[in-house]
Amino acid sequence: MAKKLWGGRFKKEIDSDFDKFQSSIHYDWKLAEYDIYHSMIHIGALLKMKILKPDEAKKLNAALEEILDEVKRRQFKYNPENEDIHTEIQNRLTEKLGEIALKLHSFRSRNDQIAFDERYYCIIEAIRILELLSEVISTFNELANRYKGEFFIGYTHTQRAQIIRFKDYLLAYLWMFGKDSDRLDSFLKNLKIPIGCGALAGSYIKKEAYQETIKQVIKSMGSIFKDTKVTLSKNPLSDVSDRDFLIEFLSILSILQMHLSRLAEDLILYSTKEFNFLILPEEFCTGSSLLPHKKNPDFLELLRGYTSRVYGNLVSLLTLMKGLPLTYNRDMQLDKEPVFSSVEIIEEELKILAKFIKGIKLNKKAISKAIKEDQNLYVTEVAEYLTEKGVPFLKAHDIAGRLIRFAEEKNKKIKELDNKTLKKFFLNKKIINKIFNPNFVIKRRRSLDTEAESKLKAFLRF
Ligand code: ARG
Repeated sequence: MAKKLWGGRFKKEIDSDFDKFQSSIHYDWKLAEYDIYHSMIHIGALLKMKILKPDEAKKLNAALEEILDEVKRRQFKYNPENEDIHTEIQNRLTEKLGEIALKLHSFRSRNDQIAFDERYYCIIEAIRILELLSEVISTFNELANRYKGEFFIGYTHTQRAQIIRFKDYLLAYLWMFGKDSDRLDSFLKNLKIPIGCGALAGSYIKKEAYQETIKQVIKSMGSIFKDTKVTLSKNPLSDVSDRDFLIEFLSILSILQMHLSRLAEDLILYSTKEFNFLILPEEFCTGSSLLPHKKNPDFLELLRGYTSRVYGNLVSLLTLMKGLPLTYNRDMQLDKEPVFSSVEIIEEELKILAKFIKGIKLNKKAISKAIKEDQNLYVTEVAEYLTEKGVPFLKAHDIAGRLIRFAEEKNKKIKELDNKTLKKFFLNKKIINKIFNPNFVIKRRRSLDTEAESKLKAFLRF
């Protein structure tokens, strides 16, 4: 059995089943890099406090660099007998350096380490998700530009409503993703990484020792943090107890996942034979083992399906933290898997989505056929035209409704009705021909902010 970071007060060996049950190394190894940074900062502080001698600090740092190198080369292998990542790294250092490694854990606790590691993880992954999101955003933009002048049909209640531009439909998702990016940005802005918590009550290490070493280590790490995110804990009790940042991160990811799920549903519907508006890229679809004709939108179905996991992870964390007394409790060890799971799902989804969007084709023929055939798409404009001419809107609404009913009962298109008939509805053929034109319809949408696109671009920084 691997050495623990505790044990002196115990007479009996830990039960082997319980030991396995309480270990977290099989998932918290993912925090290795951040745990090493915590140790590097800590070494600097111990040096300033004269707990470590300069050559000891040097040896410890060199050994940590070796492990860091393994992590960065993705060669890091943990010993499953170690309880957690903190134990793993400590034991490795002890094996390599002997007694001096035992000094490293002076005045710190795993509660302090994990509070640091998890926050660091969130920052790195939030930045990664922002990058992936911006790739998705630019592929949406590419698609919008490719089909700039094309029309589309807008729905409410999954019923045809009005003619829109395909580009505006796509930009609707860009606004949604833009707000997701904004939420991630402000999450990043607000998240600070505390250090010096001890187990809960603070540490013997002087404030000044920490402050100096934080500056030095962050600089030497070539940190991605322009402004120092690592700060001395203002209230260690709060910092070791707090997992709000994880809940906040998972909430942001859940909203993003909800957007992805709505997109998936839209694309699934629009690519069915019934709609036939979009053609999906074949390389992201699968076939049926029985039905030779099938081209199933599996990527989109999984994108929609994974929402259950991402929401579940958020609920799992909220439930985990509910009613926990201050400060650290072992329950909190279970906070990692839900976070890793949501982060990994979202990253994978965004990576594939960026490629998927590039391959989408608009079935222009099917759309113009639908627009031509469906007279209902123009009747709102008919009602509005009558309103402009002085008919009170609800009366105009009624006239347009009766016009539809009349045409349907006669099994005719509105465009086919003669002037005599149209007159009963205060209309004539000339007016109908003018209104029943998608370009006319789009031009009438005066509330559309013509600057909106450039505002969106500035907002999304592309
Ligand atoms: N692996 C633990 C966790 O993730 C680290 C903290 C352990 N602290 C303790 N007092 N047992 O929560």
